[in-house]
Amino acid sequence: MKPKFKVMQNPKISRPALLQGLLIMLVAIAVNACYYDNEEDLYPMSNTDCDTTNVTYSGTVQPILNANCASCHNETTANGNVIVSNYPDLMTVVNNGRFWGAINHEPGYTPMPQGGGKLSECRLAKIRKWIDMGAPNN
Ligand code: HEC
Repeated sequence: MKPKFKVMQNPKISRPALLQGLLIMLVAIAVNACYYDNEEDLYPMSNTDCDTTNVTYSGTVQPILNANCASCHNETTANGNVIVSNYPDLMTVVNNGRFWGAINHEPGYTPMPQGGGKLSECRLAKIRKWIDMGAPNN
């Protein structure tokens, strides 16, 4: 007499096929997880309106500094002995960390711009991107 449980087995689905199906599912989950990771890297502040592509010194950073900083930090009026109105002098404070520390209002630095509000998150993101690219004179 045939045992009853034999009826429960579906001969059309072999064990290798089941494993293959499982593998495909796992790969799909992994790929999906990576996709979300990348999205977070691209938009760290979940602000999709802030376009940090094509950030340059002359086109992005210099105009921000001219509008918000240069009046107090130029060749004739260099408050705190800091000049941000030309590239070589700006690089001094970029390289010693005072530039980013001051505009990002980090502890241990005098928050800048003095007497004004903190630069917008988008402007800071653009400046950060420029620094991370190696602060090129472009
Ligand atoms: C109204 C004038 C004024 C404006 C505008 C201004 N600063 Fe300053 N800044 C100062 C003064 C004054 C000091 C010196 C303060 C001190 O040493 O405590 C200073 C200091 C600094 C320092 C040195 C900070 C430290 O703790 O080492 C940096 C870097 C700096 N400013 C960058 C900037 C940048 C970048 C901007 C524009 C986003 C800016 N400043 C806008 C007046 C200004």
